[in-house]
Amino acid sequence: MRGKLLTQPKVFIPRPLQPQVVERVAFRCELTMHPHDEPLTAPQLAEACREAEGVVACGMRVTQELLEHAPHLRVVANVGVGYDNIDVAACTRRRIMVTNTPGVLTEATADLAFGLLMAVARRLVECDRYVREGHWQSSRWELLWGSDLHGKTLGIFGLGRIGQAVARRARGFSMRILHHSLDRLTQAQEQELGAQFVDPETLLREADFLSLHVPLTPQTHHLIGSRELAMMKPTAFLINAARGKVVDEAALVEALRSKQIAGAGLDVFENEPQVHPGLLALPNVVLAPHVGSATSETRLAMAMLAADNLLAALDGKRPPNLVNPEALE
Ligand code: DGY
Repeated sequence: MRGKLLTQPKVFIPRPLQPQVVERVAFRCELTMHPHDEPLTAPQLAEACREAEGVVACGMRVTQELLEHAPHLRVVANVGVGYDNIDVAACTRRRIMVTNTPGVLTEATADLAFGLLMAVARRLVECDRYVREGHWQSSRWELLWGSDLHGKTLGIFGLGRIGQAVARRARGFSMRILHHSLDRLTQAQEQELGAQFVDPETLLREADFLSLHVPLTPQTHHLIGSRELAMMKPTAFLINAARGKVVDEAALVEALRSKQIAGAGLDVFENEPQVHPGLLALPNVVLAPHVGSATSETRLAMAMLAADNLLAALDGKRPPNLVNPEALE
């Protein structure tokens, strides 16, 4: 372990992280940590970041306005692979490094996406409710029939790390896998995954399950809207464990209500933590509160990686997961 620094950089963490992480940061930095697991208001965050050289961005937005109140900031270490909560361009202009935590949450997020797929296909939430509410009084032939997975087509939008991990799971369930991604894998990699590249329209038309694994960017905002939903099969399900704004939620509600598609499994929403009331009213939708990476092992790995990134940057080194190398130019 490296020694304590003589002058310790000031670091702010906006919610209580695991003790191992806190210990790691506090050994080398002058740490202030908000002791409650609830979001701070923008003025509270601005005050807390006033002296900070580093921030561990866990469930917090880093806006241009916040940066104006944080003149000493050198690094924003995001706890998460997606960093749409951070105004990266504004950070870069101020030569503030931004880092994220790729890799460590791939498998957990793929598990959750596949769990949503299975839950919606086999109507597990409805089954649970049926039993708990005492409706299971006699055996019925046509009780809660769902959809097979084997032999069905999984369409993956975005075959990055998490999309690939979902494809590996789908192979184990004997599914046919199609994908569309901006960054193509090599032919050998696609063959190993058993994933065939197709254009977006073919993906939408042929998928029995469409799973989204793209980051939120201006190009992917409302990637799935009424036009795309209209191309999907009436028996198809939409799975979203990426970002809520990738889907036009109002259009999705309409497509579900009118049975244009069969159902949806959603971990993310357009205006979290608000959920469109239309979704809450539909039985053929399984909802989760953005918990893709929420396992104790994965959340620890994420926070530790964020701490590593933070400490490297404060040490004057290039952090392992720098998302804006231009900040160093
Ligand atoms: C991520 O890492 O982007 C997850 O969605 C957690 O926020």
